[in-house]
Amino acid sequence: MDSIVISIGGSVLLSDEADVNFLVNFAKLLVKHSEKYRIFLIVGGGRISRYYIKKGRELNIKEDELDKLGIAITRVNASLITNLLKISNNEIPSNTDDALKLRNKIVVMGGTIPGHSTDFVGAELAKKTHSSKFIIATNVDGIYDKDPNKYSDAKQLKSVSIKDLIKQYGTNWNSAGSNVVVDGPALKMILDAETPTVVINGKKLDQLEKAILNKPINGTIIKI
Ligand code: UTP
Repeated sequence: MDSIVISIGGSVLLSDEADVNFLVNFAKLLVKHSEKYRIFLIVGGGRISRYYIKKGRELNIKEDELDKLGIAITRVNASLITNLLKISNNEIPSNTDDALKLRNKIVVMGGTIPGHSTDFVGAELAKKTHSSKFIIATNVDGIYDKDPNKYSDAKQLKSVSIKDLIKQYGTNWNSAGSNVVVDGPALKMILDAETPTVVINGKKLDQLEKAILNKPINGTIIKI
């Protein structure tokens, strides 16, 4: 069975708009497609992780420890979602090798170690499972030429090459809680594994379904 990896932002699943209805429909969608694909879902930390990281930074806690606070929150978020899905793993694996040992049709996890975001975890799982697709489900309609949350004239990119993204953003990890659409270490992993990757708005479940089914999306295709 073909595998798909989906990295979904905590900012998508725990936003104000993500009411019970949205979460139930999100779960139904994944369960439906798990008939055809083995799904690995990596859940991000969202604003709750950023809150802890901000507080920790004010308290002069060092960067690695701030990353660990973020990781803990991603794992709490992953627990919430796995309880909702019901057919996925009960315990949240702490690394991708442990995730690969699980036999559930849907495997849910959060972050692993300091130094990257959950997008990297997704890219690593996609590499290890030779997944046919890595879907990054974020809170905007794909990758833009500048931050669309800051600039109203930001233009969505229909496609962009991985090399151009690396030229623009680099491959380093910036700092705990850093808010980039795909983090540098994840870009490097996508390039190394040549994983077909798309970025879509996870708040739009029709887009998520289109990405799963390989249909045209209103998002960004990362060209390898
Ligand atoms: P996220 O992956 O959720 O960051 O991890 P994000 O992309 O900024 O947030 P959303 O979910 O898309 O809104 C939160 C933080 O946890 C740490 C990092 O500090 C990251 O910024 N983290 C996460 C790690 O250090 N390692 C991991 O494997 C995952």
